[in-house]
Amino acid sequence: MTTPDILLPIESTLNENPGNGALVSAYLETALATHQTQRAGQFLAAYLNQLGIPLRLKLGRALCDEGLYAEALEFLPEEGAESQLWRARALLAMGQRSEATDAYYHAVAENPTLEDFALKSELDGRVVRIDAARNAARVTSIANEETRESDVMRLIQPEQRRIVFADVGGLDEIKKQIRRRILTPFQKPTLFQRFAKKAGGGVLMYGPPGCGKTLLARATAGECGATFYNVQVSDVLDMYIGESERKLHALFDQARRNKPAVLFFDEVEALGGKRQYNREATSAKLVSQFLAELDGFAQDNDGVLILAATNVPWAVDPAFRRPGRFDRVLFVPPPDQAARRDILAGLMSNRPTSGPIDLDFIARNTSGFSGADIADVVETAVDEAIEASIDRGEEVPLTDALLKFALKQARSTTLEWLSTARNYARYANEGGQYDEVLDFLKTFGKP
Ligand SMILES: Nc1ncnc2c1ncn2[C@@H]1O[C@H](COP(=O)(O)OP(=O)(O)OP(=O)(O)O)[C@@H](O)[C@H]1O
Ligand SMILES: [Mg+2]
Repeated sequence: MTTPDILLPIESTLNENPGNGALVSAYLETALATHQTQRAGQFLAAYLNQLGIPLRLKLGRALCDEGLYAEALEFLPEEGAESQLWRARALLAMGQRSEATDAYYHAVAENPTLEDFALKSELDGRVVRIDAARNAARVTSIANEETRESDVMRLIQPEQRRIVFADVGGLDEIKKQIRRRILTPFQKPTLFQRFAKKAGGGVLMYGPPGCGKTLLARATAGECGATFYNVQVSDVLDMYIGESERKLHALFDQARRNKPAVLFFDEVEALGGKRQYNREATSAKLVSQFLAELDGFAQDNDGVLILAATNVPWAVDPAFRRPGRFDRVLFVPPPDQAARRDILAGLMSNRPTSGPIDLDFIARNTSGFSGADIADVVETAVDEAIEASIDRGEEVPLTDALLKFALKQARSTTLEWLSTARNYARYANEGGQYDEVLDFLKTFGKP
């Protein structure tokens, strides 16, 4: 005995009253419940515009599960993130990789919580090994023949965006100094010639960690038209005797040949530490070489500028401060309230938010925070938002409450540095070198 065909009477009723939307839904539900997906697909193709989006999605998914991809595509709407994701699966199964990739990215752009790594790697192609550009390190990465080389490099190397002064919050006085000392001389050489003023020389930035020294240097590179050499300590230090000095000399030589040029030494204490602290005679030699190069400058130096940064200025050899060497020493302080607000606004731009966000409240309550500490507050809030988004299956934007919650867990990291600096400023303030720190400490804490 055969079971009665329960779909048949609904089909004939529908054919007589094609406008009955409720009956269409009931038909689909019944068909799915009785596992007659394919039949429902064939019959409902004529009633497509009477099916609501949720029902079309439901049928499309069921057809995908049965492996009926072409039929599924008929029902899966082209709008709606979830539907796009299923379209991507169906299209990929049918071998239409580029359409599938398109659909996938539409889906994820609309609802990032739908990101499906397994599907994405399938879309991207097979897994291959790439020899990272001659650096010996072997990096495994996902790519295919169509992956552009630049994209591969981006996977291996974090992308370095061009940074300009506008990206650095606050620090107006220092920006002004850098403008005057570094940017203007290179932009208006004639004016400088008229006054017989030489472009070049040295600027040393010091201050607590995370307050923007390296960021400022990168912004300077982004702003100035000169060749910018970012010198890594590892570019110079060498285990063989005499090699470090030779490399340092070569670097300076190269800058001189390509002027106008800026040579940036980050964490300069590693190369120019106090000679009395260095038990190894070789590092003392390196400091001497460094000083000689700076002086070599004073003679044929026009158009080469040395920028250096450190967070342990007391470990840098005092001979570096002599005029003609690093004769401009700039204190990069923790940001004041206005600067903190600036930094916050920069960090919050381009992030999904909802409701009013009281940036001033956070700026007021982060006295002593470095730029990096503030970035950390925002990162904590972002982490929470992402976690909530994944739990809820939809994008949860950043809110004022989330930021305040993150703020409660954060702490300032500059205080330790400031108290060390205060001792140096009190007891070892030769030539008033730490006057700016003392000035800062006097006003510190006052808004
Ligand atoms: N003024 C600022 N404006 C915007 N972001 C800032 C600022 N200061 C710090 N930050 C944030 O903090 C991060 C760390 O800053 P940076 O690397 O420049 O610190 P630093 O002074 O070089 O510290 P260190 O002495 O430890 O090298 C930056 O990448 C940036 O995200
Ligand atoms: Mg730094």
